[in-house]
Amino acid sequence: MSCTILRGTEFAEAIKSEVKSEIDRLARERGYRPCLAVVRVGEDPASAVYVGNKIKSSEEVGIISEHRHFDDTVSSDELLRVVQELNQRDDVDGILVQLPLPKRVDERSILEAIDPAKDVDGFHPMNVGRLSQGHASLVPCTPAGVIEILKRSKIDIEGKHAVIVGRSNIVGKPMAMLLLRENATVTICHSRTADLPAITSQADILVAAIGRAGFVRDEHIKEAATVIDVGINRVDDADLARELFTDDDLPKRLAAIEKRGFTLAGDVSYKDAVAKAGAFTPVPGGVGLLTVAMLMKNTVDAAKARRT
Ligand code: GUN
Repeated sequence: MSCTILRGTEFAEAIKSEVKSEIDRLARERGYRPCLAVVRVGEDPASAVYVGNKIKSSEEVGIISEHRHFDDTVSSDELLRVVQELNQRDDVDGILVQLPLPKRVDERSILEAIDPAKDVDGFHPMNVGRLSQGHASLVPCTPAGVIEILKRSKIDIEGKHAVIVGRSNIVGKPMAMLLLRENATVTICHSRTADLPAITSQADILVAAIGRAGFVRDEHIKEAATVIDVGINRVDDADLARELFTDDDLPKRLAAIEKRGFTLAGDVSYKDAVAKAGAFTPVPGGVGLLTVAMLMKNTVDAAKARRT
Protein backbone atom coordinates (compact mmCIF):
# COMPACT_ATOMS: atom_id res chain seq x y z
CA MET A 1 0.00 0.00 0.00
CA SER A 2 1.33 3.41 -0.84
CA CYS A 3 1.83 6.14 1.71
CA THR A 4 0.59 9.67 1.06
CA ILE A 5 3.15 12.26 2.15
CA LEU A 6 1.28 15.12 3.83
CA ARG A 7 3.44 18.11 2.95
CA GLY A 8 3.05 21.11 5.22
CA THR A 9 3.99 23.59 2.51
CA GLU A 10 0.70 23.65 0.64
CA PHE A 11 -1.47 23.70 3.80
CA ALA A 12 0.63 26.42 5.41
CA GLU A 13 0.54 28.53 2.23
CA ALA A 14 -3.25 28.13 1.98
CA ILE A 15 -3.76 29.21 5.61
CA LYS A 16 -1.36 32.15 5.28
CA SER A 17 -3.12 33.29 2.14
CA GLU A 18 -6.52 33.13 3.91
CA VAL A 19 -5.03 35.08 6.84
CA LYS A 20 -3.49 37.66 4.47
CA SER A 21 -6.86 38.27 2.78
CA GLU A 22 -8.48 38.80 6.17
CA ILE A 23 -5.72 41.22 7.23
CA ASP A 24 -6.06 43.18 3.99
CA ARG A 25 -9.80 43.41 4.64
CA LEU A 26 -9.23 44.62 8.23
CA ALA A 27 -6.75 47.24 7.02
CA ARG A 28 -9.19 48.42 4.35
CA GLU A 29 -12.43 48.36 6.31
CA ARG A 30 -11.31 48.83 9.91
CA GLY A 31 -8.09 50.79 9.48
CA TYR A 32 -5.65 48.58 11.43
CA ARG A 33 -3.17 45.76 11.02
CA PRO A 34 -2.68 43.18 13.80
CA CYS A 35 0.57 43.46 15.77
CA LEU A 36 2.56 40.55 17.23
CA ALA A 37 5.31 40.99 19.85
CA VAL A 38 7.86 38.16 20.09
CA VAL A 39 10.13 37.89 23.12
CA ARG A 40 13.30 35.80 22.84
CA VAL A 41 15.92 35.16 25.49
CA GLY A 42 19.47 33.89 24.94
CA GLU A 43 21.15 32.33 21.93
CA ASP A 44 19.50 28.93 21.51
CA PRO A 45 20.05 28.35 17.76
CA ALA A 46 16.75 26.53 17.22
CA SER A 47 14.80 29.33 18.96
CA ALA A 48 16.58 31.90 16.79
CA VAL A 49 15.46 30.03 13.64
CA TYR A 50 11.86 29.62 14.89
CA VAL A 51 11.55 33.28 15.88
CA GLY A 52 13.10 34.33 12.55
CA ASN A 53 10.43 32.27 10.74
CA LYS A 54 7.65 33.80 12.83
CA ILE A 55 8.80 37.33 12.02
CA LYS A 56 9.29 36.59 8.32
CA SER A 57 5.80 35.05 8.07
CA SER A 58 4.29 38.04 9.88
CA GLU A 59 5.76 40.31 7.23
CA GLU A 60 4.44 38.09 4.44
CA VAL A 61 0.85 38.24 5.68
CA GLY A 62 0.89 41.91 6.72
CA ILE A 63 1.12 41.52 10.52
CA ILE A 64 3.22 44.18 12.23
CA SER A 65 5.88 42.42 14.31
CA GLU A 66 8.11 43.52 17.12
CA HIS A 67 11.09 41.43 18.21
CA ARG A 68 12.42 41.86 21.75
CA HIS A 69 15.66 39.96 22.28
CA PHE A 70 17.37 39.72 25.68
CA ASP A 71 20.62 38.06 26.59
CA ASP A 72 20.35 35.16 28.98
CA THR A 73 21.35 37.19 32.03
CA VAL A 74 17.90 38.86 31.97
CA SER A 75 15.98 38.48 35.25
CA SER A 76 12.45 37.15 35.71
CA ASP A 77 11.44 40.60 36.99
CA GLU A 78 12.71 42.32 33.87
CA LEU A 79 10.80 39.88 31.66
CA LEU A 80 7.67 40.35 33.75
CA ARG A 81 7.96 44.12 33.25
CA VAL A 82 8.25 43.61 29.48
CA VAL A 83 5.16 41.39 29.43
CA GLN A 84 3.22 43.93 31.48
CA GLU A 85 4.22 46.74 29.16
CA LEU A 86 3.09 44.67 26.13
CA ASN A 87 -0.17 43.80 27.92
CA GLN A 88 -0.90 47.49 28.41
CA ARG A 89 -0.05 48.60 24.90
CA ASP A 90 -3.23 49.01 22.90
CA ASP A 91 -1.48 48.49 19.55
CA VAL A 92 -0.16 45.01 20.55
CA ASP A 93 -2.61 42.16 19.79
CA GLY A 94 -0.41 39.13 20.39
CA ILE A 95 2.42 38.31 22.79
CA LEU A 96 4.64 35.27 22.33
CA VAL A 97 7.49 34.33 24.66
CA GLN A 98 9.65 31.80 22.84
CA LEU A 99 10.40 28.68 24.90
CA PRO A 100 12.51 27.27 26.37
CA LEU A 101 13.55 30.09 28.69
CA PRO A 102 16.82 29.77 30.65
CA LYS A 103 16.40 27.53 33.73
CA ARG A 104 16.99 30.48 36.03
CA VAL A 105 13.89 32.29 34.74
CA ASP A 106 10.49 31.51 36.24
CA GLU A 107 8.78 30.38 33.03
CA ARG A 108 5.42 29.72 34.63
CA SER A 109 5.02 33.15 36.19
CA ILE A 110 5.94 34.78 32.88
CA LEU A 111 3.43 32.76 30.86
CA GLU A 112 0.76 33.43 33.50
CA ALA A 113 1.46 37.18 33.32
CA ILE A 114 0.46 37.36 29.64
CA ASP A 115 -3.00 38.83 29.08
CA PRO A 116 -5.09 35.77 28.05
CA ALA A 117 -6.66 37.89 25.28
CA LYS A 118 -3.16 38.38 23.77
CA ASP A 119 -1.91 34.84 24.46
CA VAL A 120 -1.43 33.73 20.84
CA ASP A 121 0.45 30.59 21.98
CA GLY A 122 -2.57 29.46 24.01
CA PHE A 123 -0.34 28.55 26.98
CA HIS A 124 -2.06 30.69 29.65
CA PRO A 125 -4.00 28.56 32.21
CA MET A 126 -7.16 30.51 31.31
CA ASN A 127 -6.91 29.42 27.67
CA VAL A 128 -5.85 25.89 28.65
CA GLY A 129 -8.90 25.66 30.92
CA ARG A 130 -11.24 27.02 28.26
CA LEU A 131 -9.92 24.47 25.75
CA SER A 132 -10.35 21.60 28.19
CA GLN A 133 -13.92 22.70 28.92
CA GLY A 134 -14.64 22.87 25.18
CA HIS A 135 -15.05 26.67 24.99
CA ALA A 136 -13.63 28.98 22.32
CA SER A 137 -10.11 30.10 23.15
CA LEU A 138 -6.70 30.78 21.67
CA VAL A 139 -5.35 27.27 20.99
CA PRO A 140 -1.67 26.17 20.92
CA CYS A 141 -0.38 26.52 17.36
CA THR A 142 1.27 23.14 16.73
CA PRO A 143 -1.69 20.93 17.71
CA ALA A 144 -4.07 23.34 15.95
CA GLY A 145 -1.90 22.90 12.84
CA VAL A 146 -2.17 19.11 13.11
CA ILE A 147 -5.98 19.36 13.10
CA GLU A 148 -5.79 21.59 9.99
CA ILE A 149 -3.59 19.01 8.21
CA LEU A 150 -6.05 16.21 9.03
CA LYS A 151 -9.13 18.20 8.00
CA ARG A 152 -7.63 19.66 4.82
CA SER A 153 -6.45 16.15 3.84
CA LYS A 154 -9.99 14.84 4.45
CA ILE A 155 -8.78 12.32 7.02
CA ASP A 156 -11.68 11.32 9.30
CA ILE A 157 -11.15 12.02 12.99
CA GLU A 158 -14.57 11.27 14.46
CA GLY A 159 -14.78 7.81 16.02
CA LYS A 160 -11.12 7.04 15.24
CA HIS A 161 -8.59 5.92 17.81
CA ALA A 162 -5.99 8.70 18.15
CA VAL A 163 -2.87 7.86 20.15
CA ILE A 164 -0.52 10.64 21.19
CA VAL A 165 2.98 9.85 22.37
CA GLY A 166 4.11 12.72 24.59
CA ARG A 167 2.33 14.71 27.29
CA SER A 168 3.88 18.16 27.03
CA ASN A 169 1.88 21.32 27.66
CA ILE A 170 2.91 22.64 24.24
CA VAL A 171 1.83 19.64 22.14
CA GLY A 172 0.68 16.39 23.81
CA LYS A 173 -1.98 17.66 26.21
CA PRO A 174 -3.58 20.29 23.94
CA MET A 175 -3.44 17.78 21.04
CA ALA A 176 -5.50 15.38 23.14
CA MET A 177 -8.08 18.08 23.87
CA LEU A 178 -8.40 19.08 20.22
CA LEU A 179 -8.76 15.49 19.01
CA LEU A 180 -11.36 14.90 21.71
CA ARG A 181 -13.23 18.00 20.50
CA GLU A 182 -13.29 16.36 17.05
CA ASN A 183 -14.83 13.22 18.61
CA ALA A 184 -11.80 10.94 18.39
CA THR A 185 -11.19 8.32 21.06
CA VAL A 186 -7.96 9.56 22.58
CA THR A 187 -5.10 7.78 24.36
CA ILE A 188 -2.09 9.64 25.71
CA CYS A 189 1.15 7.65 26.10
CA HIS A 190 4.43 8.84 27.60
CA SER A 191 7.88 7.76 28.73
CA ARG A 192 6.50 5.53 31.52
CA THR A 193 3.84 3.80 29.41
CA ALA A 194 4.19 0.01 29.62
CA ASP A 195 4.35 -1.86 26.29
CA LEU A 196 4.09 1.23 24.12
CA PRO A 197 3.96 -0.65 20.77
CA ALA A 198 0.89 -2.60 21.94
CA ILE A 199 -0.98 0.70 22.31
CA THR A 200 0.41 2.76 19.43
CA SER A 201 -0.14 -0.11 16.99
CA GLN A 202 -3.90 0.28 17.60
CA ALA A 203 -3.86 3.91 16.48
CA ASP A 204 -5.74 5.04 13.40
CA ILE A 205 -4.08 8.41 13.98
CA LEU A 206 -0.68 8.34 15.68
CA VAL A 207 0.84 11.63 16.84
CA ALA A 208 4.51 11.50 17.88
CA ALA A 209 5.66 14.38 20.09
CA ILE A 210 8.43 12.89 22.18
CA GLY A 211 11.59 14.73 21.15
CA ARG A 212 13.72 11.66 20.28
CA ALA A 213 14.90 11.15 16.72
CA GLY A 214 13.37 8.10 15.07
CA PHE A 215 11.89 6.73 18.29
CA VAL A 216 8.71 5.50 16.54
CA ARG A 217 9.48 2.44 14.41
CA ASP A 218 7.68 -0.21 12.39
CA GLU A 219 6.40 -2.07 15.49
CA HIS A 220 4.62 1.07 16.74
CA ILE A 221 2.65 1.69 13.55
CA LYS A 222 -0.61 0.09 12.45
CA GLU A 223 -0.83 -0.74 8.74
CA ALA A 224 -2.32 2.23 6.82
CA ALA A 225 -2.47 4.50 9.89
CA THR A 226 -2.11 8.27 9.62
CA VAL A 227 1.19 9.16 11.31
CA ILE A 228 1.80 12.75 12.37
CA ASP A 229 5.42 13.51 13.28
CA VAL A 230 5.74 16.59 15.49
CA GLY A 231 9.40 16.05 16.48
CA ILE A 232 12.25 18.16 15.15
CA ASN A 233 15.58 16.67 16.22
CA ARG A 234 19.17 17.07 15.14
CA VAL A 235 20.84 13.82 14.04
CA ASP A 236 24.62 13.91 13.86
CA ASP A 237 25.20 10.15 13.72
CA ALA A 238 25.49 8.71 10.20
CA ASP A 239 24.58 5.20 11.43
CA LEU A 240 21.31 6.45 12.92
CA ALA A 241 20.61 8.34 9.68
CA ARG A 242 21.10 5.06 7.75
CA GLU A 243 18.43 3.46 9.93
CA LEU A 244 15.91 6.27 9.57
CA PHE A 245 15.97 7.45 5.97
CA THR A 246 15.08 5.80 2.64
CA ASP A 247 17.72 5.07 0.03
CA ASP A 248 16.39 7.99 -2.04
CA ASP A 249 16.74 10.44 0.79
CA LEU A 250 19.86 9.14 2.50
CA PRO A 251 22.64 10.71 0.34
CA LYS A 252 21.19 14.19 0.98
CA ARG A 253 21.00 13.49 4.72
CA LEU A 254 24.55 12.16 4.95
CA ALA A 255 25.80 15.15 2.97
CA ALA A 256 24.10 17.49 5.48
CA ILE A 257 25.77 15.69 8.41
CA GLU A 258 29.12 15.98 6.63
CA LYS A 259 28.65 19.65 5.75
CA ARG A 260 26.96 21.28 8.76
CA GLY A 261 27.24 18.53 11.37
CA PHE A 262 23.57 17.39 11.48
CA THR A 263 20.39 16.62 9.58
CA LEU A 264 16.86 17.20 10.92
CA ALA A 265 14.78 14.15 11.75
CA GLY A 266 11.37 13.66 13.30
CA ASP A 267 10.36 11.37 16.15
CA VAL A 268 9.28 8.76 13.60
CA SER A 269 11.55 6.64 11.39
CA TYR A 270 10.90 8.06 7.94
CA LYS A 271 11.82 4.73 6.35
CA ASP A 272 9.37 2.74 8.51
CA ALA A 273 6.54 5.27 8.16
CA VAL A 274 6.62 5.39 4.36
CA ALA A 275 6.68 1.58 4.25
CA LYS A 276 3.71 1.08 6.59
CA ALA A 277 1.58 4.19 7.15
CA GLY A 278 -1.30 5.31 4.93
CA ALA A 279 -0.31 8.97 5.34
CA PHE A 280 2.69 10.62 6.96
CA THR A 281 3.99 14.12 7.66
CA PRO A 282 7.70 14.51 6.79
CA VAL A 283 10.36 16.32 8.84
CA PRO A 284 11.33 18.90 7.80
CA GLY A 285 8.46 20.16 5.65
CA GLY A 286 5.52 18.81 7.66
CA VAL A 287 3.87 20.01 10.86
CA GLY A 288 6.49 22.72 11.65
CA LEU A 289 5.28 24.95 8.82
CA LEU A 290 1.73 24.79 10.16
CA THR A 291 2.82 26.02 13.60
CA VAL A 292 3.82 29.36 12.12
CA ALA A 293 0.72 29.58 9.92
CA MET A 294 -1.55 28.96 12.93
CA LEU A 295 0.32 31.61 14.91
CA MET A 296 -0.59 34.08 12.17
CA LYS A 297 -4.21 32.95 12.40
CA ASN A 298 -4.26 33.24 16.20
CA THR A 299 -2.83 36.76 15.96
CA VAL A 300 -5.62 37.85 13.60
CA ASP A 301 -8.26 36.14 15.78
CA ALA A 302 -6.87 37.88 18.89
CA ALA A 303 -6.86 41.25 17.13
CA LYS A 304 -10.47 40.84 15.94
CA ALA A 305 -11.67 39.76 19.39
CA ARG A 306 -9.88 42.64 21.13
CA ARG A 307 -10.81 45.35 18.69
CA THR A 308 -14.54 44.74 18.29
N1 GUN B 1 9.05 26.41 21.66
C1 GUN B 1 8.75 25.30 20.92
N2 GUN B 1 7.51 25.41 20.40
C2 GUN B 1 7.01 26.60 20.82
C3 GUN B 1 5.78 27.27 20.60
O1 GUN B 1 4.86 26.79 19.92
N3 GUN B 1 5.67 28.49 21.18
C4 GUN B 1 6.66 29.04 21.93
N4 GUN B 1 6.45 30.23 22.48
N5 GUN B 1 7.80 28.44 22.16
C5 GUN B 1 7.98 27.23 21.58
